Amino acid sequence: MGRVTLSQYLIQQQRAHKEIAPDLAALIEVVARSCKAISAAIGKGALAGILGSHGTQNVQGETQKELDVISNEMLIEATEWGGWLSGLASEEMEQPYSIPAQYPRGKYLLLFDPLDGSSNIDVNVSIGTIFSVLPCPKGVNDPAEKDFLQPGRNQVAAGFVVYGPATILVITLGHGAVAFTLDRETGTFLLTSENIGIPEDTSEFAINASNARNWHPPVKRYIEECLAGKTGPRGRDFNMRWIASMVADVFRVLSRGGVFMYPKDAKHEKGRLRLLYEANPMSFIIEQAGGAATDGDTRILDIQPTALHQRVGVVLGSKNEVVRVTDYHRE
Ligand code: AHG
Ligand code: MN
Ligand code: MN
Repeated sequence: MGRVTLSQYLIQQQRAHKEIAPDLAALIEVVARSCKAISAAIGKGALAGILGSHGTQNVQGETQKELDVISNEMLIEATEWGGWLSGLASEEMEQPYSIPAQYPRGKYLLLFDPLDGSSNIDVNVSIGTIFSVLPCPKGVNDPAEKDFLQPGRNQVAAGFVVYGPATILVITLGHGAVAFTLDRETGTFLLTSENIGIPEDTSEFAINASNARNWHPPVKRYIEECLAGKTGPRGRDFNMRWIASMVADVFRVLSRGGVFMYPKDAKHEKGRLRLLYEANPMSFIIEQAGGAATDGDTRILDIQPTALHQRVGVVLGSKNEVVRVTDYHRE
């Protein structure tokens, strides 16, 4: 027997768990297919003329890269027609996207960050796509912003793709987290990590240290103690990694443990990362892999969103470290 393909895995999951509808499995396959196309485009880089700026700004006032826009369009085109969705929302669109009238409506809402790690596109460092699937509220045919404002614990599936040396898809349907590697020759996602489990302890942290002067006291204390190493209160040396693509940093945490932080600070008063299409899907996956995710005070998946593009402080990864950071916030 060869490796399990994404399609086989999705069928196995449906057989094992009655609540996983065929529609959800189909949706995930289509999202994955569209990420293969994004992966192929990224692989061509400058040869395909897809690097550089698009010359526009998104709702968060960030300059859109060509690839932000292309990936956004690819994901919409792939998912709007199939009858799985009643609505879509993306980092790159101010308002939820209305499914054209000629297509049937479905049970789900899809939210995504089409291209995560935009600052790394032009320098050939890993980037990715993040997605979250929520149930569409009953009786709603044309979901408005308020219909997307559900806490992360409502998610029925979440996933992300890292376009790195290998293209890797990580998903959860609420029964553990698994990873697939894209076989570029056959265009197939093959299961390469079953039952991902994050070690509870770690000696590796990820934070953008250029924000240090803006950090709040609990974060300052945590990082200072890590940096103090063997002779400090932690009694051991810590290592630091910061890729500046959440997808790649979170994949490392899933692979060998670690704590990833983009906390609220004096400059990022509400945090930097977006709740609905970055923090929620990643937190769902991290929890399914045995880790934890908090904004410092509240479990991310329990936060009631109030706006589509809301930002949030994020501390996630190895459980014991996340608990420690939370304790420092309480003290
Ligand atoms: P995006 O490219 O979708 O806007 O997200 C970038 C995010 C995330 O991937 C990363 O962890 C963080 O921004 C990097 O922030 P800094 O540039 O402050 O390091
Ligand atoms: Mn992002
Ligand atoms: Mn993005």
